[in-house]
Amino acid sequence: MSAVLRSFFTSRSAAAFKPVRGGIATATVYPFPPLRSGAPLGLSPSFERDVLDGLTLRQKAIASTWLYDHRGSELFEQITQLDEYYPTRNETQILRACAHEIAAAAGPRALVIELGSGSSRKTRLLLGALDTPQAYLPIDISAQFLQESVAELPSLYAGLRVMPVVGDFTRIESLPELRLLRAAGGDAGRHVVFFPGSTIGNFTPEQAVALLRRIRRFAGADALLIVGADSTRDPAVLIPAYDDREGVTAEFNKNLLARINRELDADFDLDAFDHQARFDPLQQRVEMHLVSRHAQRVQVRGRSFHFEAGESIHTENSYKYSLARFQQLAARAGWTHLQRWVDGQARFAVHVLEVAARGDGREQNVKVA
Ligand code: TRP
Repeated sequence: MSAVLRSFFTSRSAAAFKPVRGGIATATVYPFPPLRSGAPLGLSPSFERDVLDGLTLRQKAIASTWLYDHRGSELFEQITQLDEYYPTRNETQILRACAHEIAAAAGPRALVIELGSGSSRKTRLLLGALDTPQAYLPIDISAQFLQESVAELPSLYAGLRVMPVVGDFTRIESLPELRLLRAAGGDAGRHVVFFPGSTIGNFTPEQAVALLRRIRRFAGADALLIVGADSTRDPAVLIPAYDDREGVTAEFNKNLLARINRELDADFDLDAFDHQARFDPLQQRVEMHLVSRHAQRVQVRGRSFHFEAGESIHTENSYKYSLARFQQLAARAGWTHLQRWVDGQARFAVHVLEVAARGDGREQNVKVA
């Protein structure tokens, strides 16, 4: 699995994305680049560096990106179906209600770019509503999961070009695929960047502003940006959503340790750590930790790390944004609201943004019944 990931990541050259005919009508699938033996390591060195650096911090911490290997992506998919995990349900309700208005704003022949696409299930609501969408570029860090998730899309949307991009979207500076599409005669409509799932909340506000600026740069001045952000602040709702009865979230969190054992020759004892979700009302974020049950030492790539009893590795933040705070955040990055949609329980919001210069007070606020 890691070999596949490395190779896809490093061989993502323009030539690797030559279109081939899919089985159905005019649908086009852009294949994953073939494996190349002896390819230089791609993702793996940054995983190693992040883990080793993170374990030397006073508050040990590992970037949440690394939770999403193939197994992690599968477990996260299970989380989205849990009773306690309301964000997916509430966001889906919103998207069902507003997809057609978003589609009207996007216009015909849109090109959809999705950041951290996972299962691509919510995207179908958008693709289904758009007027002859031209291309879909899902970006995800798990190559195999991405491949499985997009496999049937071309047969569902005739004429849609599906161009999966394997990589860490936080490090993407530009998308050569956009140039490729244009060169291939793809007379693109509007670029629609789809960023659902409250993934924006997994960055600190500073990082989130930097990311939103970067999106503006690679997506262009005419882009539409659709961001899902959670605004729930009630710990009685939040804690079960991030620490469910069945223990799926605990398994998801601990899978990071299993992955480090597997890929970085480490010896974490998974039973010696507990999953914990905490709400920090000051920072308005849920924090995910792996807490050491007792004092212990762990070896990773030949280096030894000490844990006190109760000491934790911080593995994830999920910031919760009120509508006003999210608007400030987006404005700092040069985005302005075109529409804002909220679910019936007022827990989750879908923000439809455009580049600020275009903004001319056309904003609509809509609550989905
Ligand atoms: N984007 C999701 C969120 O913030 C990620 C997430 C959900 C998550 N549950 C998790 C991350 C549990 C780590 C552990 O809601």
